[in-house]
Amino acid sequence: MPQMQGNLNPDAGDRPALTLAQHSNTLEVTARGYMLWRARSLSLLSGVPFGLKREARLFRALCGPQPGQDWLDAGTSAGFYAGLLAAADCRVLAADLSAPMLREGMRREKSALIDWALLNLEDSGLPGESFDGVTAGATLNETHDPARLLRELERVLRPGGQLWLMYVPRTGGPLQSTLSKPALGGLNFPDPAWVARQLPGMQLTDGLGIGAVRFGRYVKNHRQDSAA
Ligand SMILES: C[S@@+](CC[C@H](N)C(=O)[O-])C[C@H]1O[C@@H](n2cnc3c(N)ncnc32)[C@H](O)[C@@H]1O
Repeated sequence: MPQMQGNLNPDAGDRPALTLAQHSNTLEVTARGYMLWRARSLSLLSGVPFGLKREARLFRALCGPQPGQDWLDAGTSAGFYAGLLAAADCRVLAADLSAPMLREGMRREKSALIDWALLNLEDSGLPGESFDGVTAGATLNETHDPARLLRELERVLRPGGQLWLMYVPRTGGPLQSTLSKPALGGLNFPDPAWVARQLPGMQLTDGLGIGAVRFGRYVKNHRQDSAA
């Protein structure tokens, strides 16, 4: 039975601050209702039918996770991507800063290939170059410092490893600027070009927008690529 690990980085210095949105995810009630929202959220945001099965097909088609690979599901919540990866016979570290979310994930996804970790991924303490792939489904929108999160996700990937991002990008609209205010959620709506700039050692291989939702697949350069 997979265990929930404690913070792997108990001696971390300055703890990253939390947004209101991050705090709301540490509530039991948010965790319990999360998959109800998640199953509908992309259809609501994109304006086209976009259920979890369609998202899973897109992820598998573009990322092709292989048996035996090591993946990090960054901000796993109830374990949607962790479950997909375990079904592809990958080993998964499903990490989140919310203990209720991790409990919900463990309740839903029983694969022995998944380990659960209570971690703030802006400062994870995970060893560098230790994963073949990272998934981050909307974690970028909620984290306190998205540049710091992206740096950390790039760091933990092995050369040639891939990063799969799903997020709501910047529109400049009034609703987004309201939700960005710290007292009203502190959400981030990054521009795709800004995201690419935070990943200097990675190449965007696939990027697509479906309504208000953006998907991106990046691959980490091999050392000789970076040096070139
Ligand atoms: C919108 S939910 C995404 C859920 C999941 N990735 C999915 O695709 O269903 C964002 C999750 O990321 C977590 N989170 C936000 N910032 C985080 C951080 N810096 N470190 C770890 N988890 C974080 C939140 O607790 C929340 O569970």
